[in-house]
Amino acid sequence: MNARLERKLRFLAIIMVAGTVAGLVLNLAQGRTSYSSMFVGITYGLLMCVAIGCTELFILDGPMQGWLGRLSFTKNLMVRSAIYAVIIVAVQSSQSGEVIAGLPRETSGQDFWHGFILSAGIAVLMNLGFSIARRFEGKGLMREALIAATNFMFEREGLHRIMANFRPENIRSERLLTSIGFRREGFARSYLQINGRWADHVLTSMINPADLDGL
Ligand SMILES: CC(C)(COP(=O)(O)OP(=O)(O)OC[C@H]1O[C@@H](n2cnc3c(N)ncnc32)[C@H](O)[C@@H]1OP(=O)(O)O)[C@@H](O)C(=O)NCCC(=O)NCCS
Repeated sequence: MNARLERKLRFLAIIMVAGTVAGLVLNLAQGRTSYSSMFVGITYGLLMCVAIGCTELFILDGPMQGWLGRLSFTKNLMVRSAIYAVIIVAVQSSQSGEVIAGLPRETSGQDFWHGFILSAGIAVLMNLGFSIARRFEGKGLMREALIAATNFMFEREGLHRIMANFRPENIRSERLLTSIGFRREGFARSYLQINGRWADHVLTSMINPADLDGL
């Protein structure tokens, strides 16, 4: 057996052990302590790790490696995420854990997975967060960085929408985002928990100019 294959098989064995333990721990953490539910948890952990581990090691890091390597970072990530999502949704929505354990299938989970598939298929967006050390504020550096970052994500990575939100009293962020083309979309009450307290946020976004052509 060649060294590369041996290394991959050893790695797969580690992934399988980790998946089995994770499946069991997750189940116990959710208060499912019966033998049958522990068996289901272990089955899911094992199935998921074998499917994802084999795909990663023997397909993505095998025949697809050259093609994936020529893609941009975001496209590479999207292809990988889509493949992982297909595996996760297939294992979860078919309820293979329950089937293997001989337990009845639950129908309530199906709506969640249908929604998950839909949202994964139609959204190409990101949430932007930014912060600069106090001693570098007021020099226009963040403005420069955000213009470079948004141009990169739109032009090179082909992203459709970037969203950025700030607290109403954060005038610096408001000025900065407005100056580079973000538009106000709304006001979200009690949006994020910051320092233990729910805080209102102003919602803004910027759309890829290329996608707005003709609109
Ligand atoms: C929000 C934050 C990133 C803004 O930083 P900033 O340095 O004020 O942002 P900019 O890079 O746009 O700099 C603009 C300032 O630089 C000044 N400036 C100086 N030279 C400049 C130049 N060549 N070009 C543009 N602006 C210049 C501008 O006059 C402006 O000053 P002003 O705010 O006193 O009017 C920063 O305050 C921060 O990190 N805050 C804490 C974290 C945070 O709130 N993050 C956002 C969460 S939503």
